[in-house]
Amino acid sequence: MNNFSIYLPTKIKFGKGTINKLSKLVEGNYKKVLIHYGGGSIKKSGLYDEVVDELKKAGAQIYELGGVKPNPRLSLVREGIELVKKEGIDLILAVGGGSAIDSSKAIALGAVADVDVWDFYLGKERPKRALPVGVVLTYPATGSEASMGSVITNEEEGLKLSVNDDMIRPTFAIMDPTYTLTLPKDLTFAGISDILSHILERYFTNTPNVDLTDHLCEATMKSVIKNARILNENLDDYNARAEIMLAGTIAHNGILGLGREEDWASHNIGHQLSALYGTTHGVTLSIIFPAWMKYVYLDNLDRFNQFAINVFGISDAGSSKEIVALEGIKAYEEFLKEVGLPTSFEEANLPSDRLEEMAQKAVIKGKLGGLKKLDVEDIIKIYELAL
Ligand code: NZQ
Ligand code: ZN
Repeated sequence: MNNFSIYLPTKIKFGKGTINKLSKLVEGNYKKVLIHYGGGSIKKSGLYDEVVDELKKAGAQIYELGGVKPNPRLSLVREGIELVKKEGIDLILAVGGGSAIDSSKAIALGAVADVDVWDFYLGKERPKRALPVGVVLTYPATGSEASMGSVITNEEEGLKLSVNDDMIRPTFAIMDPTYTLTLPKDLTFAGISDILSHILERYFTNTPNVDLTDHLCEATMKSVIKNARILNENLDDYNARAEIMLAGTIAHNGILGLGREEDWASHNIGHQLSALYGTTHGVTLSIIFPAWMKYVYLDNLDRFNQFAINVFGISDAGSSKEIVALEGIKAYEEFLKEVGLPTSFEEANLPSDRLEEMAQKAVIKGKLGGLKKLDVEDIIKIYELAL
């Protein structure tokens, strides 16, 4: 096990009706609050009105900036930074999914920085401070409600890049699974693909002696798969929605990666599809992860063998390690198909004529991966396996 440090400052209020905790979280702590949200799902569901009522109860002055798009854009971040600076806003409240949260984190960084916010994403600058970000979560997927990450798309340059720093972990997150009942099937399972991918990025490691986190990862994956199957039958199952929401946070708050080198190649390879074609994040992962697995499994056969046996219950009686590993990869791919997710460029109707350009952009900050280091040639081969 490697040395590690972890900082988990996010206060979480989980469960039915927890929106009524918002006024207490704000009152006396923040005076001017920016509600930052997406394309209107929170207005349709009535959550927007509930948030406004709570903020009024807390005596806060309310500002709002909607219009965050899936794969949030740098241009709206810049607009938010100007607004926050001009009005002296002291809390950014993201109401929505990962895009509203990531955009809020970028505004929180940019509003108090003396450099351009994009420099943090390019890795040219490290964040020194940030305004606090609060979250009312409506979509379990990215884990951004408690994570150290923010991913922003620079639409002019066709680049989708992330910054990772404890400074941007949200200060609080309200998580009521009831709000997730309005998620349609495709978004529900794209979120689940993302949650599983956050675990897989940590599970596939060469670090030895990580028994506890191995088993935490395996248990979380099994629970997500089980509850995904329940939702595949009935999207209105509150208890399954609650399990998925909790898993989404656990998958990406850092606990499952303690003491182990993480991978993250598949995420970065997938980001290029979102940057060029606007593909939903979880869909990029249902396409790329199985292909990545097929490309790298021989580099750590034992681990892929363990995945097959412990997560999918594949029997190793009389089979070689390689056959068992391949059965595990197949079982994962079949699960993704079972819940209706595309697992190839073709199934997602994506063109295949810009693979080299995407691979070049994927390595803009250096080679990818922990389990196997990947260069441009490797990444092109992974795209080809996903066609
Ligand atoms: O915009 P609105 O109208 O709110 O609709 C949204 C949006 O169209 C809709 N939605 C959200 N909650 C809903 C709902 N529709 C009905 N009922 C609800 N309860 O869902 C759509 C997608 O929302 P979005 O926030 O874009 O999705 P997600 O949470 O998957 O966020 C994706 C972004 O997060 C990044 C991704 O790369 C992508 O840019 N990630 C962030 C991470 C982090 N910060 O730690 C890690 C992840 O790996 C990921 O990269
Ligand atoms: Zn993700």
